Amino acid sequence: MSLLEVRSLRAGYGPVEVLRGIDFHVDEGEVVVILGANGSGKTTTLRALSGMVETSGEVVFDGRSIAGARPEQVAQAGVAHVPQGRGTVTDLTVEENLRLGAYTRRDKEVGTDLERWYEMFPRLAERRQQQAGGMSGGEQQMLAIARAMMARPRLVLLDEPSLGLAPLITQGLFRTLGDMNRDLGTSMLVVEQNATLALAIATRGYVLETGEIVVEGTATELAGNDDVRKAYLGI
Ligand SMILES: Nc1ncnc2c1ncn2[C@@H]1O[C@H](COP(=O)(O)OP(=O)(O)O)[C@@H](O)[C@H]1O
Ligand SMILES: [Mg+2]
Repeated sequence: MSLLEVRSLRAGYGPVEVLRGIDFHVDEGEVVVILGANGSGKTTTLRALSGMVETSGEVVFDGRSIAGARPEQVAQAGVAHVPQGRGTVTDLTVEENLRLGAYTRRDKEVGTDLERWYEMFPRLAERRQQQAGGMSGGEQQMLAIARAMMARPRLVLLDEPSLGLAPLITQGLFRTLGDMNRDLGTSMLVVEQNATLALAIATRGYVLETGEIVVEGTATELAGNDDVRKAYLGI
């Protein structure tokens, strides 16, 4: 059974239907990417999984239905969401943001994990007492990711982690995501417009077009697909 199994997922905003019944899954340990142009419904897909928009359809996580669950219930079940445009509290310090990420945990290893993420992202260690809002876009994105990881999620939802970041920073960020997946086994569902970098760390992927999945395959298949190459890889 897949870690996340989604069937006939529909979602929208009031009378506006955005997702028209999509099916996808994420297996344990996979990095799955959802590619799609602006407005195709990528953010809505992640919001639907996190209980932030009205949905219908099946969403089964770790064998349990989380369809219609509230955001805090989804988080409690082991799914962390890094929203588009950072997910940090700007007037809290770096360390306060990281500790906030661990609020669902009952164990006593939060301090150990803090050190692990400071090691992974040395810039955050240097800035641990600074307000998050004063940091660069790249640093805030690293903080948002580390904060999500502080919950020790089994699945992380990442909404366009590359958005607004310089190419070199983005490359480093994706390398770190790949390392996190490999070293910790954390499964990831990444929505991205930067297909080249996303496919480099992905196991499989889907292409979303106006709320429907039009292509799916392994990362290698997608990278070799003519339509995908033209639309997302600029080849
Ligand atoms: N809060 C909202 N209210 C109404 N329509 C929205 C809202 N957010 C997004 N939409 C619409 O839903 C569609 C998909 O948006 P979104 O999921 O953000 O796409 P993407 O993340 O792929 O760019 C777009 O047509 C967008 O205009
Ligand atoms: Mg979006």
